[in-house]
Order: sequence, then structure tokens, then C-alpha cells
Amino acid sequence: MSEIRLQHVTKRFGDIVAVDKVSIDVKEGEFVVLLGPSGAGKTTTLRLIAGLERPDEGEIFIDGEAATHTHPADRDVAFIFQQYSLYPHLTVFGNLAFPLRSPRRRLSEAQVSARVQEVAQMLHMESKLGNMATHLSGGEMQRVAIGRALVRQPKVFLMDEPLSSLDAKLREELRIELKRLHRTIGATIIYVTHDQVEATTLADRIGILEHGRIVQMGTPREVYGNPASLSAAQRLGSPPINLLPAALFDSTALPEGTSTVAIRPEDIVLHAPDAHDGLNLRVLEYSPLRHLLILDREGTAIVATTMTERNFAPGQTVGASLPPRSLLYFRSDGRRIPA
Ligand SMILES: Nc1ncnc2c1ncn2[C@@H]1O[C@H](COP(=O)(O)OP(=O)(O)OP(=O)(O)O)[C@@H](O)[C@H]1O
Ligand SMILES: [Mg+2]
Repeated sequence: MSEIRLQHVTKRFGDIVAVDKVSIDVKEGEFVVLLGPSGAGKTTTLRLIAGLERPDEGEIFIDGEAATHTHPADRDVAFIFQQYSLYPHLTVFGNLAFPLRSPRRRLSEAQVSARVQEVAQMLHMESKLGNMATHLSGGEMQRVAIGRALVRQPKVFLMDEPLSSLDAKLREELRIELKRLHRTIGATIIYVTHDQVEATTLADRIGILEHGRIVQMGTPREVYGNPASLSAAQRLGSPPINLLPAALFDSTALPEGTSTVAIRPEDIVLHAPDAHDGLNLRVLEYSPLRHLLILDREGTAIVATTMTERNFAPGQTVGASLPPRSLLYFRSDGRRIPA
């Protein structure tokens, strides 16, 4: 049984279609990441699942049961926001205990305390339980926010860019911890981010969202290697995929309707100049630390990555091949053309 199912869910705000006939199936224990540009409808999708918004069309099922019209409190879903939203007048303990003290739960203080200790241990926050929430670092605050969701043991966690307000180091630490937590508790998680490192390291599957639509849903490897559209191809990869105008190629070698040819930087094969079937390209820039080479192809910059450190000097000519099996072809509207 799938834990969360959205069927043709649409949400409009006036004339804006924030979420457009989205269908998603998230399995129990799965970690799904929604990736997409600002305004794509990521937050709205999470809010619809949480019950904070009502869909105009479509159905939402949680754990096999129709949830489209149920109250947020009855959905057993925890929502973690980008900005830590702790109770500033409470200690860490008080913040973690808060959801457990709701009258609906009918837990004894001893049970509350035991559960808080357990979660504090998971998050390495035992020594901070007595701190006021305001006397914590940003990373600690976000840990507590995650902890407040964990204590409730909800069916589903919805996380909206939970790490984006943290600095790079903390972000990485908490990202690794989240992955570990997911493995330990086996929770179902839907996670929204702009960050492709988070997306590719955390996700079992990535959903690419654009203009309110899911343009592709697949494992990180599938989306990276076999992108459904030009925008999906651009969403993953650092340095990003090279986009070359069809005019740079012999038109008889391209599928009909090709407007853009794309190739990943690591798929470009470098060799000595004047090789059979290779191109001679001028080096614009070389970064030995990142093994990054920028080449000039008739005024279009092409980024290539090299496996080994070599000495490339700007102005030098190198040979490069773009193997046909590594080329991706797209129409002018961004749709992929099968090779
Ligand atoms: N309450 C609202 N009233 C009117 N329009 C809204 C409302 N909430 C969202 N929208 C619009 O719906 C669209 C999707 O917004 P949403 O917040 O879901 O995007 P997002 O993908 O989360 O973007 P971001 O990455 O910037 O957080 C946007 O055009 C936004 O302006
Ligand atoms: Mg958002």
C-alpha cells in the first residue's frame, strides 16, 4: 500500500494554477524529494498533503484512506518548515514535550519524559534539554524542530527546505543525520529543496516540479542520466549540462526537430588535437583543483571535466569528441527527442 497518493490534484489561487493535476505515489518508508525552481508549487503541494490547503480538484489518500477533506490534525502528518518555529519561552525539553502533552494523547509525564529523552538522544541534544529555545545555534534549533516532529511518530514527515537557512557546514551535518534518521526510523518523507546535493543524496526518488506540474519522477540516477525534458536535464549536475545550439552540428546527424543538443561535462572525451572524428577546441579556462576545462566552440563555451590533473593553458588547442551515445536532443519547447 502506498503511504501517500495524490491523484490529479489541482490547486488554484485566483488565476494562478499553483499545482496542476499532480499525481504522486509515495511508498511506505520512501524518501521522496521535490525539486524545482521558485514558484513551482513545492510548498503548496506539501500544504495540500498536510491539509493546510484544500485542492480544487483531485484526491489525496494517506495510508490508503481518503484524506482530501479531513482536518489537518487528523492526518497524522508532521510538517517541518524552513524557519525553525520553536516556542521561545520554553526549554528544549518543553518544546519536545509540547506535542506529547496534548490532551488527545493522554500520556503520563513519565511517558512524555521517556519519549523526549529518546528523541534527544537520536538528535544528540541530551545535554541541551535544559536550554531555552532561544539559547541555541541555528542548527540546534532546526534539530529541535525536527525532534518535535519525531516525538509524535507521525506516519509521514513533510519537510519544506528544512536546511536552507543554515550555513554550508551545518547543512551538510544535518543532511547526513537526516539520512541516518530516515534509515533508523524508516519514516515516509517528502522533502522539498532547491539544492541538488540534498536531492541526490537524500532521495530514493526525485520529483521534478515545474509550473505546478511533475515533469519527471525517478531515482536520482534516472533523472540525471535520462532526463525527460531540457529543464529536468538542467536541474541536476554540477557543473551543469552543456547546452549547444543545433546549428553547431551537422544537421544530417541530428534527429528531426532538434533545437538543442546537450552533453554532460564528464561525457566529453579529451585527446590530442587533430584526432580523427574529434574537434579542435581552444582552451578558455582551466581549473586544476576542480579538473574543469572550459572550451570555446565557435563562441559557445563548453565545460568539460577531466579525470586527472593535466596542464592545460588558456589559448592552447585540445581535441575533444562528443560521443553520439552521450548526446541528448531536445525540441525548442524543451521536450526530449528519443535518439
Ligand atoms: N496563499 C497564496 N495566495 C496566492 N498565491 C499563492 C499562495 N500560495 C502560493 N501562491 C502562488 O502559487 C505558486 C506556487 O507557490 P509555492 O509557494 O508552492 O512555490 P514553491 O515551489 O514552494 O516556491 P519557493 O521555492 O519559492 O518556496 C506561486 O506562483 C505562488 O505565488
Ligand atoms: Mg516554497
